[in-house]
Amino acid sequence: MGFVISWSPEFETGIDIIDEQHKRIFEYLSEIDHAIKAQSTSEVEYVVKALLDYAISHNTFEESLMGKAGYPMLDAHHQVHEAFKARAEAYGARLSSGEDHFRLAREVRTDIGLWLTNHIKRDDKHYVPYVKKSLDGGFVSRMLVICLLSPITYSELQPALLYARS
Ligand SMILES: [Fe+2]
Repeated sequence: MGFVISWSPEFETGIDIIDEQHKRIFEYLSEIDHAIKAQSTSEVEYVVKALLDYAISHNTFEESLMGKAGYPMLDAHHQVHEAFKARAEAYGARLSSGEDHFRLAREVRTDIGLWLTNHIKRDDKHYVPYVKKSLDGGFVSRMLVICLLSPITYSELQPALLYARS
């Protein structure tokens, strides 16, 4: 009997979109566990592939945020994601080759689960201040555009401009 890794606040980055995606990955892990318990080969195949695809797309999304934020360690983080992609694709290939689905699913649940939890706690947490700052900056710019497009006076706009320059 394996163990199921589940979401806990220690994985929180404080970036809503990232936290939602990380939570979805944990949901996939519990769906894998469910499929194993249900002894459903088709469900195992579907949900393992879905987890691997989702995690790869999520990593690409993270890289786009890191790129926009000018994160200085993006290249190193990209290399880590590439290593994950190779690992995920190897599991996908093994699944397609007809290997015992349940044994493979248990391996994926534990191996990918541990990889992701370590990655979130260590590598992802490192980009958080950079991406947060960049997303907050984006918010200020959007608010400025709204102010500039709306019929308000310069004196009403000035505090926002001063804040944006500071
Ligand atoms: Fe990452």
